[in-house]
Amino acid sequence: MKRQISFTIAVFIFLSVTAQKFDNIARTPPMGWNSWNKFACNVSETLIMGMADAMVSSGMKDAGYEYVVIDDCWQVSRDENGEIVVDKERFPNGMKHVADYVHSKGLKFGIYSDAGSKTCEGRPGGLGHEYQDARTYARWGIDYLKYDWCNTTTQDAKSSYTNMRNALFAAGRPIVFSLCEWGTAKPWEWAGEVGNLWRTTGDIGDSWNSMINIFTQQKDLAKYAGPGKWNDPDMLEVGNGGMTTEEYKTHFSLWCMLAAPLIAGNDLQNMTPETKSILMNKEIIAVNQDTLGRQATCWRDNGDYQIWIKGLANNEKAVCLLNKSDEKKTVLVDFSLLAQVRSGRGGGGNRAPLKLEDYTVRDLWEHKDITLKETSVYVDLLPHTVKVYRFIKK
Ligand code: GLA
Repeated sequence: MKRQISFTIAVFIFLSVTAQKFDNIARTPPMGWNSWNKFACNVSETLIMGMADAMVSSGMKDAGYEYVVIDDCWQVSRDENGEIVVDKERFPNGMKHVADYVHSKGLKFGIYSDAGSKTCEGRPGGLGHEYQDARTYARWGIDYLKYDWCNTTTQDAKSSYTNMRNALFAAGRPIVFSLCEWGTAKPWEWAGEVGNLWRTTGDIGDSWNSMINIFTQQKDLAKYAGPGKWNDPDMLEVGNGGMTTEEYKTHFSLWCMLAAPLIAGNDLQNMTPETKSILMNKEIIAVNQDTLGRQATCWRDNGDYQIWIKGLANNEKAVCLLNKSDEKKTVLVDFSLLAQVRSGRGGGGNRAPLKLEDYTVRDLWEHKDITLKETSVYVDLLPHTVKVYRFIKK
C-alpha cells in the first residue's frame, strides 16, 4: 500500500514537472506575419521565403515583427508511418529548408495545424498524432504553432489543447502555442496554463464592421491577459484594401491598446507608404509591447464614443479616444482627469493616480507632444477614428 502511494506521488510529481508550457516565450504580444488573410491556401516556399525577405527589407523586422507563419494548406497527407507529408509541389525542398531560410534572416518560423482530424481546409489534422507532430515540428525548427479547431466533433477543448501543449513540451523545443478555438469554450478562463495566445472570436474580415465587432467582444477580457498569455482578437487586416487608411489606423491602434498579438496579414512585398506608416508606427507598437503586459480597459463608454486606458510600465499610460460612429464628434477631454484614472488589478489603468504636471502628453499618430494651455481641451474625432495619447514621465 505504502509503495503504491509513493508510486502514485512519484507519477504525480513526474507529470506535473513534465506537463507544462514553456516559460520565457511571448512575454510581450507576439509580432509577425501570417499567410491566411491575404493568400489563404495559396502558400508556397517562394511566397514564404519572399515574405521573410520583405519583412527585413521593408523595415518590419526592425519595427519588431519576428514570426513568419504559414497557415493552412501546406500539408497534403500522412505517410505509412503517420508522418505528416508536405505538399511537394509547393514546398519542393521540404519545411526544414524554409525554416532554415527564415532563421538565416534573423526571424522565427511558424506553422499551422488543427486539434481535430482535419484542418479547416480539409488537410490532415493533428488528432492522434500530437506527439509525433510535435517532434517533427521541433526537428524542422518550428518556433510558433497555430492550432485550429475544425473537425473536432465531440472533443473537449481544454483537454485537446493541453494534450498538444504536453506534446510540444515533451519535444523540447520552445514553441509559441497559439490556440485558435474561436472563443467557443471561453479559452481565456483556462488557456493561460496551456498556450501563449488564444483566439477570442470567429474570423476577422477585411471590413470596418467585422473589425469593430470583434473589438467590442474584447471588453471584459482584460484581466485574463499578461506576459506569456494573450487574448487574440485575430490577425491584422491592415493593408488588405477593405478599410480606409483612417479605419486601418483605428484597427491597429485598438489592437495595440488590447495588447493583442500583432500578426500582419497583408502582402509585405507590396505595401503602400500609408500601410507602412501604420504597421511600423513604432510609438504605437511600443504601447503594444509594453513590458507590464496590461490589456486596455474601457473607462468611459458612451456607446459610439469610448475612452480606453492601458497602464504601462514606469507608471506611464496610454489613452485611446475612439469614435465608432459615422459622424464627426467634438469631445471635451480633461487631461488632468485622465492622468488621475486608476483601476485595480488586471485592469488597464495605473495603480496610483498620476499628476498631469509630472507628464508630457504625446499624440502617437501626430508624433508630437501636445501643448496644453488648459487641462481640458476640445478634440475633433472624425468618423471611425481614434486619438492615441501617451502620458510620458518628464
Ligand atoms: C480557421 C481559422 C483561420 C484560418 C483558417 C484556415 O477559419 O480561424 O484563422 O486559420 O481556419 O483554414
